[in-house]
Amino acid sequence: MEFSTKTGSPEKLRSGCIVAGVFEGRKLSAAAEALDKASAGFIASVLESGDLEGGLGKTLLLHKVRNLQADRILLVGLGRERDFSESAYRAAAVAAARALKNTGATEAVFCLADLPLKKRDVAWRVEQAVAALMDASYRFDRLKSKPPADKAKGLKKVTIQLSRKADVVEAENAAERAVAIAEGMALTRDLGNLPGNVCTPTYLADQAVELGKRHGLKVEVFDQKAIEKLGMGSFLAVAQGSKQPPRFIIIEHRGGKKDEAPVVLVGKGVTFDTGGISIKPAAEMDEMKFDMCGAASVLGTMKAVALLKLPINVVGAIPATENMPGGNAIKPGDIVTTMSGQTVEILNTDAEGRLILCDALTYVERYKPAAVVDIATLTGAMVIALGHVATGLFANSDPLARELVQAGDDGWDRAWHLPMWDDYQEGLKSNFADFPNIASRAGGSITAACFLSRFTKAYAWAHLDIAGTAWKSGAEKGATGRPVSLLTHFLLRRAA
Ligand code: BES
Ligand code: MN
Ligand code: ZN
Repeated sequence: MEFSTKTGSPEKLRSGCIVAGVFEGRKLSAAAEALDKASAGFIASVLESGDLEGGLGKTLLLHKVRNLQADRILLVGLGRERDFSESAYRAAAVAAARALKNTGATEAVFCLADLPLKKRDVAWRVEQAVAALMDASYRFDRLKSKPPADKAKGLKKVTIQLSRKADVVEAENAAERAVAIAEGMALTRDLGNLPGNVCTPTYLADQAVELGKRHGLKVEVFDQKAIEKLGMGSFLAVAQGSKQPPRFIIIEHRGGKKDEAPVVLVGKGVTFDTGGISIKPAAEMDEMKFDMCGAASVLGTMKAVALLKLPINVVGAIPATENMPGGNAIKPGDIVTTMSGQTVEILNTDAEGRLILCDALTYVERYKPAAVVDIATLTGAMVIALGHVATGLFANSDPLARELVQAGDDGWDRAWHLPMWDDYQEGLKSNFADFPNIASRAGGSITAACFLSRFTKAYAWAHLDIAGTAWKSGAEKGATGRPVSLLTHFLLRRAA
């Protein structure tokens, strides 16, 4: 999809569809007003008939409105003008994007980015518009035997209408940023949506190599032998139950000065999590193909960073494996030696994410990183705590946590900072090893973060638990591409 901007009023534009907003009480936005005037009050008369009252997210499609050059007008309800907030703007943009997808229009003029919003500038409004449009146009149909009938349909070009010339440069930069983020997200979603029999550790590694070739990123893949040589006893323990060999993937963007400390992103890459011997119940187990969404978000972010040519150094590190039961699988009670030398009693083989991340977190010490952020679908308890809205954020550095919360706000990919006080460390006690891989059920997301914190003492570190945000269940089942926007905004801030 291509984006451009245009200043001036929309009524003279030739287009497949013009998108304009209407507040509750049939109050026309400036763009809708201009369209109404040009059509000699036609829009107001349609509203009078009661087809659109302006309720937030409601839409009405009009065809061949008199005196206008556009084929269609899409009116979008904005809710009460007094209450028009950033989330209302988002909701309207999403509704518009979805409605547009159901029209035959291949190009459109989008007039919502100009709506006045107290807390958000034009860059944010444009970025969110592009994000909503790109999100709605995403589809994953490569595994259907026949292409869907409406395959050729869809928006190709969107013009974002602005009234102020002074906004154009900022708006175009924002659109470019948003497209890069959306392309990163699409990669993350594709990888997440692929089933476990396609997206294996080897496949993930191949995709990283491919991404590296296309975007000039340096990629290194460690196979089983090389991982053994590194002494990653904990990561290997998880992998030993699977026929699929593990991979440890390193991908580097060197946009900064040679000696500048990199930001390191570590992504959980469990390409299928059965739970192992501590096996999961059958219901919805298919969704455990999404257990590599942390890894996929690292690759998606590396793609966005490369497209944006950010002038900083970023390293991605991905431990990739399946978690399977089997004759050679780890058993509850098994004790393993991590790369750090610390020993762990595996009380539950389903707490495997932390067992592979801990070794990756030790490995990345060698970069003397400016900061390390790990991204993982780590705990079901996260879904209970924050639902599907916010990603859980834990950190051993408050400034880093604040940066990430801010980045999540910038990209509307929000995270919430949870505590990791020493009191929570108490539960991690073992009679036989240095500590176990689980504590009691209470505060399960926090104690998982506490486990990881024992491997991250050498640097500023944050942990993003995306168990509730990486994918959607139900009718809209599929990967979301989160938290690529948060991560890219974090890196944009670091690069600025
Ligand atoms: N991948 C899961 C976490 C998960 C479960 C994410 C459901 C999203 C939805 C992780 O490996 C896991 O199984 N965690 C266990 C930890 C427990 C054994 C301490 C969990 O959350 O049940
Ligand atoms: Mn698990
Ligand atoms: Zn898992």
